[in-house]
Amino acid sequence: MESIIFSSSIKIDLRGFLSRQKYSRLGLIMDSNTFRDCYPLILDGLPDHDYYVFEAGEVNKNLTTCTKIWQWMTDLGLDRKALIINLGGGVTGDMGGFCASTYKRGISFINVPTTLLSQVDASVGGKLGIDFNGYKNHIGVFTEPLAVLISEEFLKTLPIEELRSGYAEVIKHGLIQHANYYSSLLIRGWENQDWKSIIEKSVSIKKEVVSKDPKEAGLRKILNFGHTIGHAFESFYLDTDRHLLHGEAIAIGMITEAYLSELKTGLSKDDVKLISDALIQIYGKFDFPEKDVKEIISLCSQDKKNEADRINFSLLSAIGKCEYNIPVALEEIAASITFYKSL
Ligand SMILES: NC(=O)c1ccc[n+]([C@@H]2O[C@H](COP(=O)([O-])OP(=O)(O)OC[C@H]3O[C@@H](n4cnc5c(N)ncnc54)[C@H](O)[C@@H]3O)[C@@H](O)[C@H]2O)c1
Ligand SMILES: [Zn+2]
Repeated sequence: MESIIFSSSIKIDLRGFLSRQKYSRLGLIMDSNTFRDCYPLILDGLPDHDYYVFEAGEVNKNLTTCTKIWQWMTDLGLDRKALIINLGGGVTGDMGGFCASTYKRGISFINVPTTLLSQVDASVGGKLGIDFNGYKNHIGVFTEPLAVLISEEFLKTLPIEELRSGYAEVIKHGLIQHANYYSSLLIRGWENQDWKSIIEKSVSIKKEVVSKDPKEAGLRKILNFGHTIGHAFESFYLDTDRHLLHGEAIAIGMITEAYLSELKTGLSKDDVKLISDALIQIYGKFDFPEKDVKEIISLCSQDKKNEADRINFSLLSAIGKCEYNIPVALEEIAASITFYKSL
């Protein structure tokens, strides 16, 4: 598994890490925002390097940008001993890692995640890739970075709605695996969390799950809690002015899937209420017209997690316990969305 370094001074720890590596040349990949806000935090003392900056945004996590990155690597004459640092959120890590792990059959890379989402989620598990013709993460590989250096210093410049979006994954980690962690999150307002300890705890939960099932044959599916319906909402509103951030969509997914958990895996009614109250308090309630529902439901079945014509869900049997491969009928999904609307 990748080695994860929790850093309280990214500049010093990155410099120290690099001084212990042997590489022919160093290249940084960043997006336009992390170039502006994060690069200055590591620049001082960084060894000789080149960099490539792409325009920020999920829309650019595609083959066109990869082609430019591979061309940049080629123009620099990077050989197989070169080292890449991906400095940015999940888009940069997924795409920069994908480009590195395919260039000349793979060169080493380090991820320095700069969003809460990429620190607690994308930093673990070795999934890399890009979107393709409208399909999310459609082309990709499993490759571990040489190391992941995580520092909360980057969160200072992260827009608050991006921080809140990443926090949905933190809540998910508590709900699927750790009841005490979940209740500890509710003690203070979400903006006032101790991010350092949250990142460490969430990473350890994800790491534990992934280490037991690296290729998602079984247990790892519990990380999809909230994501089957959440992704459907995310996709449906993607190119609209109602656009939802990933975590905002997953919050809707966790509420509707908590409802399904009561139906299918015995989550108590009280817990469904506790979960939905907490999530609505943080994310508010998303308002959408009834006419959208049919297509949202049909998007659930296009999720790549399904086998044959059943829609498999990962659902809670209690707070802190999650089961996977639970088949759910379309009418039940419809009922869960009606439940959300009724809140
Ligand atoms: N590989 C995995 O296991 C995994 C897991 C979860 C998500 N993902 C992928 O991650 C992506 C989403 O990640 P994300 O939310 O980090 O998106 P992102 O990389 O697009 O970052 C979100 C926004 O924040 C900006 N930003 C990043 N760090 C900043 C900082 N410190 N200060 C100011 N601005 C900053 C970015 O430029 C961008 O505009 C998706 O493509 C998703 O598929 C991958
Ligand atoms: Zn997610």
